[in-house]
Amino acid sequence: MPVALQSSKTASRSNRSASSPVGFFDSGVGGLCVREAFRRRLPHEDTIYIADTAHCPYGNRPAAEIIRLARRHVRTLLARGCKMVVVACNTATAAAIDVLRATWPDVPFVGMEPAVKPAVLRSKSGVVGVLATQGTFNGRLYRETCARFARKTTVLTCVADEFVTLVERGETTGPRAEAAVRARVEPLLAAGADHLVLGCTHFPHLKPLIEQVAAGRAKVVEPSDAVARQAERLLAARGLLNPAGGNSHVFIRST
Ligand code: DGL
Repeated sequence: MPVALQSSKTASRSNRSASSPVGFFDSGVGGLCVREAFRRRLPHEDTIYIADTAHCPYGNRPAAEIIRLARRHVRTLLARGCKMVVVACNTATAAAIDVLRATWPDVPFVGMEPAVKPAVLRSKSGVVGVLATQGTFNGRLYRETCARFARKTTVLTCVADEFVTLVERGETTGPRAEAAVRARVEPLLAAGADHLVLGCTHFPHLKPLIEQVAAGRAKVVEPSDAVARQAERLLAARGLLNPAGGNSHVFIRST
């Protein structure tokens, strides 16, 4: 095992306590919706967020490259003393979460999973639409979730990379954003989807627009709150909940 890896493991173990921050990373600003959900649920936690703008988008990058980037972000977060890492990116979760857990077995990791299960359970039409990146659809997690929970449901997939571009530009309203949302969502609705799963952390930033387009026809489901609950469970189980922090929220943008 490489020496650098062992030393980062040691550093991560020695630095962590309840008052340590929780780390987040994504290809860009998308995962901020996950950090917001986390902060609403656990207002006494400090956070550090890495937006890997220099390598955004992740959606069509090879898994090996995303693993390399994800390991770099985790090393940075652990070097800053993070007690837990939330992979606030579906694509990075799909490509890298198994490797991250194997590399740092003593660090709690929380990943993203498209909310296929709740959508399937609530669907009346038997058709749900999932919007995500190609990388997420290629992942084991997505395939296994569908195989487990959606055997009797038609799951329509839709890659919507242009949503990532819009969100990175801060263009979440206006005619261009609306046209992009309509172009992706209308075919899913026309095919009978009564639930739309946002399987990329950039997409909740367009949720008001997606809800407006789908109004009366489909409900929009996204997992940020469920991820925040899972993070809380993991911290509680390890005695790492912070009773008195919450004033420090760092944002790091890679360039
Ligand atoms: N926000 C990411 C995700 O959840 C990545 C999108 C991208 O960079 O392509 O998948």
